Amino acid sequence: MQYGHFDDKNREYVITDWETPLPWINYLGSDDFFTLLSNTAGGYAFYKDARLRRITRYRYNNLPLDQDGFHIYIKDNKTVWNPGCRPCGTKLDSYECRHGMGYSVITGSRNRIEVSQEFYVPKNDNILLMRVTVKNKDKKDRNIDLFSFVEFCLWDAQDDTTNFQRNYSTGEVEVEGSVIYHKTEYRERRNHYAAFFANRKVDSFDTSRDAFMGVYGTPASPLAVSNGKCSDSIAHGWQPVGAHHIHLDLKAGETYDVIFGLAYVEVPERKKFIAPSVINKEPARKLIQKYDTNEKFDAGFKKLHSFWDRLLSRFEVSTSNDKVNRMVNIWNAYQCMVTFNMSRSASYYESGIGRGMGFRDSCQDLLGFVHMIPERARQRILDIAATQKEDGGAYHQYQPLTKKGNSDIGGGFNDDPLWLIACTDAYIRETGDWDILKEKVDFDNKPELADTLLEHLRRSFNYTLNNLGPHKLPLIGRADWNDCMNLNCFSKHPGESFQITGPSEGPVAESVFIAGMFVKYGKAYAQLLRHLEKNDEAKKADKAVKEMEKAVLKDGWDGSWFLRAYDAFGKKVGSHYNTEGQIFIEPQGMCVMAGIGTETGEAQKALDSVQERLETKYGIVLLNPAYTTYKLNLGEISSYPPGYKENAGIFCHNNPWIIFAETVMGHGDRAFELYKKTCPTFLEEISEIHRTEPYVYCQMVAGKDAPTFGEGKNSWLTGTAAWTFTVLTQGILGIQPDYNGLRIDPCIPKKVKEYTVNRLFRGTMYHIVIRNPHKAEKGVKELIVDGQHVDGNVIPLVSKKNVNVEVIM
Ligand code: BGC
Ligand code: NOJ
Repeated sequence: MQYGHFDDKNREYVITDWETPLPWINYLGSDDFFTLLSNTAGGYAFYKDARLRRITRYRYNNLPLDQDGFHIYIKDNKTVWNPGCRPCGTKLDSYECRHGMGYSVITGSRNRIEVSQEFYVPKNDNILLMRVTVKNKDKKDRNIDLFSFVEFCLWDAQDDTTNFQRNYSTGEVEVEGSVIYHKTEYRERRNHYAAFFANRKVDSFDTSRDAFMGVYGTPASPLAVSNGKCSDSIAHGWQPVGAHHIHLDLKAGETYDVIFGLAYVEVPERKKFIAPSVINKEPARKLIQKYDTNEKFDAGFKKLHSFWDRLLSRFEVSTSNDKVNRMVNIWNAYQCMVTFNMSRSASYYESGIGRGMGFRDSCQDLLGFVHMIPERARQRILDIAATQKEDGGAYHQYQPLTKKGNSDIGGGFNDDPLWLIACTDAYIRETGDWDILKEKVDFDNKPELADTLLEHLRRSFNYTLNNLGPHKLPLIGRADWNDCMNLNCFSKHPGESFQITGPSEGPVAESVFIAGMFVKYGKAYAQLLRHLEKNDEAKKADKAVKEMEKAVLKDGWDGSWFLRAYDAFGKKVGSHYNTEGQIFIEPQGMCVMAGIGTETGEAQKALDSVQERLETKYGIVLLNPAYTTYKLNLGEISSYPPGYKENAGIFCHNNPWIIFAETVMGHGDRAFELYKKTCPTFLEEISEIHRTEPYVYCQMVAGKDAPTFGEGKNSWLTGTAAWTFTVLTQGILGIQPDYNGLRIDPCIPKKVKEYTVNRLFRGTMYHIVIRNPHKAEKGVKELIVDGQHVDGNVIPLVSKKNVNVEVIM
């Protein structure tokens, strides 16, 4: 069942039934100011950090669902309704929500009155804009009352939901004309406030929630709305809100519009006040004036569109399959940018107060956005590297506001350092910017420890070698990619964090997955060294990689698949000797991607075992059979009911590793068959089962052991975005950035006859047509660049604006 449809021309998903299986959201903002917005106008806004600078409230896990946000109320005689249908729930004659690139438009109509809310956050300004347009489609004049409403958060989202004894007394506002200023704590240590404005004269306003809602009122029928006007209340403590009321006398056929804006403003310390307790509103006025007419609103909107045009034009594909095209050209790329902005901080599943930026998460996200924003990717790499510890280990997370390693969670997640090699390598292939390796970067955010980025990579590489276990496989530490395989944790007490209980390092527990990573990214590291003519060092790295490969094939091979790990007692995990958790997806994907056993048969065997034991109609489960009881020696993974999350859920993140592995083996049909299984655009028709947004990936789909097999969860903020984008564009479509040019190496279904790609690479736009007359799955027979035959499959670098490429497979 579908709840809407794609509009590819406008790059939008159009929701036509508001009762989606879950709120389907969008992200507005691409710099510092962000808003999460659902299809019924629920959501919240924050500046930079969803915990420390939360601008409006959002109650997670609440009933009714998704009630807080940016709703407007229309009072038409006795009937009250919202264009997004919520929170009133009044039945409408029409409803539509268009989620686009950085904007959303919600339109509803009832009884010949049509109202739309156009939302966006402009480039480079800290403001959420909402234009409300009211059309009287009737043949007679109509009287309407229009109300806006936002509820302010007292800045620190964590404190806001816990410290009521203080917070009920701190709230402060000021009102001047149509602008409501939220200035809680500005009197003391804050230098920022929020301003909620309307560009028209308002008839009344409220800033006290009790006054607007009524003490026992509900968002579905606020007191002020029932009364037809606000009471010009000024909040003193309790719950400061912003509500505007405008009375409209609309002639038959008349249209009225008003622009609302929610701004975040910082004021220099010395200029905070213009009179005792009176805040300096000048910076707010300046910002508001930039968007207070339709012309200015439209111009800002246009700028946002061109921003996305520019980003998305860097990689465009045209195949005969619309579902593939819209992933590459629009939605998968868009999701990659959202992970760039959010890491794993704020979504409808991530409260914005828990995790900051993940070390491995942000490194992997980069793989998906580096071609769109290479300069910002560069800065991101340097920021991440600066949190690396002196011994090459890494803080597992860092805070976006301070960019400092988070010592609450600390380090000891032994895959983390290797991801730094992965993202730096991807960055250099994309940009050719070898100089980044010479940048001086702090260790542990201490300038006195700074050294080159190359030295950071060296320590990442050596960190694995310095932490080997009894089988010469890497020690796992607290966990590897699978945060929930906690082999050194042994937690017995409810509430203990699986992540940080137990020693951060055990001398025995080893990870075959990290071994695979070491081979894959160790090879990349050796190539970097060779390019820098550090040949001796490169040889040493090669040797270490070879030894690791040997160790994997000797002690990390279980006979028909790669073993997952050795636990703290040296017992096998992910082996046919086990009764549960016999085979895991991660090492099969990573080891084959690394090229382990591709010549000697193990790789193929492993992929066959994946097909036989892990694959389902909705994708590949993480492990099989699922754990049915809690295992002290395995930790969180066995805490989940069978089929959910890391305990045999379909983890969308590592499905693309298997797809990549299939392309390594040259299996184009198989790769695409697997690609389709988790790809949201291919699941649109079963939205009632999949439940999450059909335009973005979710982290996890319930596996075959779960009662809700096929149900998605945790959409938007997942490394899946980057990995599916790279597997599709590089593994399947075969457009692979390489040090000395663009390598073309497709691995496609036999029946694909032809497709074209426009790819901006190092300043040149490559117009590539790939033809497959012989029904091949892999292998480039001929490469013609601007009419000239080129040997091999790498398009050499040129200094031209445009290059035409023809590829025959
Ligand atoms: C989740 C993991 C996540 C970890 C760290 C666990 O509860 O299942 O997916 O990586 O928490 O936040
Ligand atoms: C989500 C985390 O963000 C990521 O870092 C981890 O690899 C996966 N869960 C698997 O546990």
